[in-house]
Amino acid sequence: MDRIVITDVSPRDGLQNQAVNVSTDDKLELVRRLATAGVPSVEVTSFVSPKAVPQMADAADLVQRVNAALPTLQTSALVPNLKGLERAHAAGAREIAVVLSATRTMNERNINMDLDEATAVSERTLLEARRLGLRTRAYVAVAFECPFEGKVPLEPVLRLSARMRDAGADRIVIADTIGAAAPGEVKTRMHELVALLGADLLAVHFHDTRGLGAANAWAALEAGVRHFDASVGGIGGCPFAPGAAGNLATEDLVLMAERSGFATGIDLAGLLDAVAFAESVLGRQLGGRSIAWLRRHYAKEAERKREAA
Ligand code: COA
Ligand code: ZN
Repeated sequence: MDRIVITDVSPRDGLQNQAVNVSTDDKLELVRRLATAGVPSVEVTSFVSPKAVPQMADAADLVQRVNAALPTLQTSALVPNLKGLERAHAAGAREIAVVLSATRTMNERNINMDLDEATAVSERTLLEARRLGLRTRAYVAVAFECPFEGKVPLEPVLRLSARMRDAGADRIVIADTIGAAAPGEVKTRMHELVALLGADLLAVHFHDTRGLGAANAWAALEAGVRHFDASVGGIGGCPFAPGAAGNLATEDLVLMAERSGFATGIDLAGLLDAVAFAESVLGRQLGGRSIAWLRRHYAKEAERKREAA
C-alpha cells in the first residue's frame, strides 16, 4: 500500500497562539498521546524569542523531557536564526526547521528581517545545523497568498525552495500559512515544485481557514507529495499572520488518506484521545471537519467491543 508521512505540528503551530497558558507537563502529555496514536513525527516547539512568542518559552525543558520520555519518536523544533539553533542543539533537538516567507513584509512581521536577510539567515542556519549533524526542514511560508502583499507569484516560491535545497534542507515544506490556497493552484504549483525538486524533498502545510485544507492536501498528493503537516484537532495559526485559522486537522487528513488507500500508521481512535486531551487543556471544543462523525463512529465501535466481550 502507498504510504504518506504526517508530521503533527500541534504542539508548535497549535499552541504558539493560545490565550491560555499551557504547562510543559500538558505539552508533554499531548506529544505522548500523539505518539501513542502512532503519529511518526511531531514538531514539538520553537526556539524563538520568548518576547515574541511567550507560549514557547519552555522549549528547552520540553525538548529534554520529550527526548527522555519518547526516545524513538521523530521530533523537530522551529528555529528562526542561529541563536535558536544554538538553543535547540544545546537542549538535544535532533531536527530543526527554519522559516522563510516568500514575501518581504511577511518576513519583516514574523522574524524582523527583509527577504534577503531572512534567506541568508535561513541558509546559514541550515548549513550550521547540518554541520552539527541535525536533520533539517525548511518552511517556505506564505507560498500561495500573503496577508500583507496578497497573491504570491510562483517565481519566488521556486527560487527560495531551490535556495533551501542548495543549503542542504532535508525537506522543504510549502506552507499555505493563512489557508488561502485552492486545489487547482495547489495542483499546478506542486507539479512545478515536484519537477524542480523531486517529490521526496517536498512536504506541504495547509491551514483550513476556508474549509479547503483536505482538498488541497489531496491535490498535493496527486502531484506526488507524500509528506504532510497537520495539527490534531485543527488547532493552529501564526500570531503574525492575520486571518490564519487552524491547520488542516490531522484526523481529517488521516481519514481522507486511509479511505483513499494510503497508509498513515496512525490510529484514529488514538487521535480522538489526543483531541479530547487538548480540549481539556484549552477549555474549548476542537476538531476538524470530520470530528462529529469520528466520535459517533468510534463510540459505536467501542460499544460493539464491550458487547462482544
Ligand atoms: N531565541 C531566544 N531569544 C532570541 C532568539 C532566539 N532564537 N533570537 C534572538 N533572541 C533575543 C536576542 O538575544 C535579543 O535579546 P536581548 O534583548 O535580551 O539582548 C533579542 O532577542 C533581540 O534580538 P534580535 O536579533 O534583535 O531579534 P529581533 O528582535 O529582531 O527578533 C526574532 C527576531 C527572529 C528573534 C523574533 O522575531 C522571533 O522570535 N520571531 C519568531 C516568530 C515566530 O515564532 N513566528 C511563528 C512561527 S513561523
Ligand atoms: Zn502553520
